Amino acid sequence: MQMWSSEETRNKAATLAPVARALAAGGPAVRVRVETDSDSGPADLQLDGTAYATAEEAGAALKAAWPAAGRPGTVRIAGVGRFVLTEAPQDKKAGRLGGRICLVTGAAQGFGEGIARELALAGGILVIADLNLPLAQAVARSLNDQYGAGTALAVGVDVGSELSVAEMVTETVLAFGGIDLLVSNAGVLRAGGLEDMTLDTFEFVTRINYTAFFLVTKYGSRPMKLQARFDPAYTADIVQVNSKSGLEGSNRNFAYAGGKFGGIGLVQSFAKELVTDRVKVNAVCPGNYYEGPLWSDPEKGLFVQYLRAGKVPGAQSVDDVYRFYIDKVPMKRGCSPRDVTRAILYCAEQAYETGQAIPVTGGQNMLK
Ligand SMILES: NC(=O)c1ccc[n+]([C@@H]2O[C@H](COP(=O)([O-])OP(=O)(O)OC[C@H]3O[C@@H](n4cnc5c(N)ncnc54)[C@H](O)[C@@H]3O)[C@@H](O)[C@H]2O)c1
Repeated sequence: MQMWSSEETRNKAATLAPVARALAAGGPAVRVRVETDSDSGPADLQLDGTAYATAEEAGAALKAAWPAAGRPGTVRIAGVGRFVLTEAPQDKKAGRLGGRICLVTGAAQGFGEGIARELALAGGILVIADLNLPLAQAVARSLNDQYGAGTALAVGVDVGSELSVAEMVTETVLAFGGIDLLVSNAGVLRAGGLEDMTLDTFEFVTRINYTAFFLVTKYGSRPMKLQARFDPAYTADIVQVNSKSGLEGSNRNFAYAGGKFGGIGLVQSFAKELVTDRVKVNAVCPGNYYEGPLWSDPEKGLFVQYLRAGKVPGAQSVDDVYRFYIDKVPMKRGCSPRDVTRAILYCAEQAYETGQAIPVTGGQNMLK
């Protein structure tokens, strides 16, 4: 008989939850919540999880025990936990995302928050993952108020830390049973030319904008692959929020642009690796979100910074700096979270495309 530590139990539960979700065969609207501390009491289906050395073996046993017709409401796997299966409410099922579980990193503010709000409007269940947990909780609360309890969950994460990313995925899977759409959005910008940029700053920007996308994909694709293995109809999506600076170099901003260019290399490579698991991987490359906090924050925003630094010749006010940048965009406005979300939804809905990087720049960047 196997004895599992509490961490092992959580890991096994996180492996078995997508399997249960796959076997439930109800599509993205099915959710599985795991209570790892409650593996006693009645359940519709029971299995002795301690009899299996690996979670994969337990998954195969779960498949063999699964009823041919109907879906159990609760599954008890001794030594692992109690799995509670529910369906998303009708209004979510009727939405474009049909109750899909969407995890957005960096979703406490800026593009990430806006994308999360648009995905919730489209019928998604949202995980608001961010370094700033109190702000992430405020966003999740407001989505639950607007679209009903259970719409959103806040999770604290540092996407630059492997342990933290692994825990983010475990927490998500124990709460909902899987991840159907993973939006890797968290990012940082530290501009600077060759003479100003320090190695520390360069490595920090690279870690959050480039390395973190590897970590988020490594751990985030696991429940997707498992669910796809047990459900032949299942597909999932990973979308990186890249940038127009991933398509064209950016003067005195090479740490950012280099990481974003690299992100497209990762997107193409992950797309090739994960295609056999029916996980698509794409990038969206937004133009500047001039109305968002990164640019418009009255104290730390880029408009104020560029005015103070004299980056725009002759500019006397924030408005002059704004004009200078808006004039570079053929459509004469900044990119909005709705613009970006439309491209993300395209990636998720388009069944015959992977490894792409889609510009969303009002005509500022055009594909060659
Ligand atoms: N704002 C723009 O004009 C613009 C343009 C193109 C692309 N982008 C990209 O969009 C994404 C979001 O940018 P934004 O402008 O909304 O940024 P923002 O600074 O407004 O928000 C970023 C969010 O990410 C979180 N975050 C930062 N580091 C983190 C970490 N280590 N772990 C977890 N969360 C972390 C922050 O707490 C914040 O909530 C980035 O990838 C950025 O490169 C932004």
